[in-house]
Amino acid sequence: MRYKIAVLPGDGIGPEIIPQAVKVLKTVGKKYGVQFEFKEGLVGGAAIDVYGTALPEETLKLCEESQAVLLGAVGGPKWDSLPPAQRPETAALLALRKGLGLYANIRPAYLFSALVDSCPLKKEVVEGTDLLILRELTGGLYFGEKKRQRTDTGEVAWDTLIYTSEEIERILRLGFELARARRKKLTSVDKANVLITSRLWRETAERLAQEYPDVELEHMYVDNCAMQLIRNPRQFDVLVMENTFGDILSDLASVLSGSIGMLPSASIGGQTALYEPIHGSAPDIAGQNKANPLATILSAAMMLRISFKMEQAARDIENAVNKVLEQGYRTADIFREGTTLVGTEEMGELVRQAVEEG
Ligand code: IPM
Ligand code: MG
Repeated sequence: MRYKIAVLPGDGIGPEIIPQAVKVLKTVGKKYGVQFEFKEGLVGGAAIDVYGTALPEETLKLCEESQAVLLGAVGGPKWDSLPPAQRPETAALLALRKGLGLYANIRPAYLFSALVDSCPLKKEVVEGTDLLILRELTGGLYFGEKKRQRTDTGEVAWDTLIYTSEEIERILRLGFELARARRKKLTSVDKANVLITSRLWRETAERLAQEYPDVELEHMYVDNCAMQLIRNPRQFDVLVMENTFGDILSDLASVLSGSIGMLPSASIGGQTALYEPIHGSAPDIAGQNKANPLATILSAAMMLRISFKMEQAARDIENAVNKVLEQGYRTADIFREGTTLVGTEEMGELVRQAVEEG
């Protein structure tokens, strides 16, 4: 087998974490006799500096021609003053998701038991957390009409939260399917007491539920959900929600996994899926070999599972991460007294070795 993977390191810690996942994938390739062909592309601020645009035509083409995309992170202070439409976050990341038709973003929040003490919440609360946030990724507030205008008294600005029933149905359907393959519980998160888009969302969920009698469907308001996630995370299996809610609640859920540096993600729905850690480019620690590469490495595991149907190889990586954590190795974000502090490279190498030996 031969697979072409587009590699987009991006900005900040991106160029440090991505090589760790790439070396793990190379080891997997050798072990399973699969040839991964890696092709690098520029994206985000790094692309602005060279091409003057955050998502150059070449990069989008490279992604379209590949079987999967591995992305680091984009953005940084250097490009923060650009107009919103040209910033790396919107011009690269949102455009890439839209361009590739990736309407579904899967963000599993899993707590490795070795990291129970890295979580700021009580052990009794977080132990056994294993949930999945399914975020709608190409609609809603982030993609609706945006405008800013002068008025007689000052200015007015608006973003539009808009959803079609088709967009809602396809993401909910995936939610039911994912729940069916797990513990069969789907929490549909909305704000139906206020938002009309949420009412359409809720009615659609009710209608689809009839096709999935084996899946338990519950509705939860987003504000309550934020509270429930830290109060009793074990009550959740799959949570499905619109774009903005998913952006916010997935950061919140990352605390349950010990650190935002632990949460991987897969964006699917188009021909080529994209895999990236949920965290950002962390400019404050960039270039210091401090970043946690595990979210990116776990994103590579998701790539193997979802895009290449290499379930055993995906498990090899997850088991390797588990082993290295059990052995007490920690990057700074998950470090506790009595554990061994390692840098980005060392952590990547430890996981790579564990995959090779496993
Ligand atoms: C994420 C990020 C992005 C998002 C930003 C950088 C545009 O926060 O992937 O969660 O909002 O989707
Ligand atoms: Mg986010």
